[in-house]
Amino acid sequence: MIGPDSFHTIIEPFKIKTVEPIRMTSRDQRATFLKEAGYNLFRLASDNVLIDLLTDSGTGAMSSEQWAGMMRGDEAYAGSSSFFRFENAIKELTGFKHVIPTHQGRAAERILFSVTSGPGKVIPGNHHFDTTRANIEVTGAEALDLPCEEAADPSQPAPFKGNIDLKRLEPLLQARARQVPMCIITLTDNTGGGQPVSLRNLRDARALLNQHGVPLILDAARFAENAMFIKMREPGNAGRTPREIAREQFSYADGCLMSAKKDGIANIGGFLALNNDNWADNARQLLILTEGFTTYGGLAGRDLEAIAQGLEEVLHEDYLRYRLRSAEYLGAGIRDAGIPIVEPPGGHAVYIDARAMLPHVPPELLPGQALSCALYVEGGVRSIEVGSVMFGHTDPQTGQQVPADKDLVRLALPRRVYTQSHVDYVIEVAQFLARNRAAIGGYRIMSEPAALRHFTAVFEPIGPVTC
Ligand code: F0G
Repeated sequence: MIGPDSFHTIIEPFKIKTVEPIRMTSRDQRATFLKEAGYNLFRLASDNVLIDLLTDSGTGAMSSEQWAGMMRGDEAYAGSSSFFRFENAIKELTGFKHVIPTHQGRAAERILFSVTSGPGKVIPGNHHFDTTRANIEVTGAEALDLPCEEAADPSQPAPFKGNIDLKRLEPLLQARARQVPMCIITLTDNTGGGQPVSLRNLRDARALLNQHGVPLILDAARFAENAMFIKMREPGNAGRTPREIAREQFSYADGCLMSAKKDGIANIGGFLALNNDNWADNARQLLILTEGFTTYGGLAGRDLEAIAQGLEEVLHEDYLRYRLRSAEYLGAGIRDAGIPIVEPPGGHAVYIDARAMLPHVPPELLPGQALSCALYVEGGVRSIEVGSVMFGHTDPQTGQQVPADKDLVRLALPRRVYTQSHVDYVIEVAQFLARNRAAIGGYRIMSEPAALRHFTAVFEPIGPVTC
């Protein structure tokens, strides 16, 4: 019998060799755990979470080849063979001259901005991630987001909502190019919903920046997912491999920042890769001061091996197809339940528009927090609020909440960890909440720290935590 070349179901392109139990909990138990955690999901013990979609960072499952690399790890302080494998993998992929390992992405950010930025400088980008923004601002420089127009409306799908707005970049460069040490384009745009950047936008940005002598640096945390979106969406790329596209992405840049906890499929690690000799020399000096010697940068040799192997596996087409399909499938399930999401679903996550889903909870009563608590109590699903808790603040005069412009809840998929039935379960929980949304009430903040309040603030529900 001759069957079709491909069946419809996109199966997980791996078999499971090691398993980790998920501890089942009842709704009543979870209500107690949440109360004990001050209604802050960061304060939960992960043993009490059924499906953990808090982040896709450092939470991926490593392959048997990565674990084999862990055993091979050379722990020499200087010149470890694992470093050379790591360096080769990155040079071959990116083409950049200098490779500087760091313990994670934000360490690469801190080092790069310490050696290049400072008061009076401005660093434009499509959409800086929050640690990137914080590391720019701490030097006294300004972090400027220039997302494209299509990004403004979360409900409207467009293929490349991660693009930088060149129409706004140009006047900035004309007026202040000498104060712009670099432009940063984040692949994919995490803050904007995991949305990709097109090759065309990268190419045009490069040409514009060249006219003003400004380098382009990529935040490459999710470079492989971005490459796969290009393969699927940008005309002329369907027949290319993700590696070819990834290399073209890097060819337009002068360097990159990388959190290997995402598309490195490693549990820890990152790097800075640069062409500029001067920047690299200064970065290495700082690296030795705070991260470690230049051939390990705060990582163990085994971590360098895991990253080198992860960077190879992340570009496998079957993996990327499954990866993007999983997020799309989750997004479709939630959308079909009548819950508004940022359209289209991103590469690593689905973002629910909690403000639109819960119109009866005003932004001052933190609808994103309300939805993420309900997802946990009703289904044991841990998500992350990306809204007024994370980006809003309490007015010091009035004590009132000043909300952010959006209230989103992100469901981020760890790499190679959950199967389709886990995703089906999450969809079922979302369907339940959609039917019972009127019963989801708001929250108030009982205590909060001076900065980055979402990690440690304590909340209280306004009414009973029921659906
Ligand atoms: N850049 C982007 C686009 C990120 O998403 C992150 C981390 C970083 C840089 C910083 O890297 O965590 O290794 O220091 N994002 C995680 C998240 C925390 O949940 O989205 P890091």
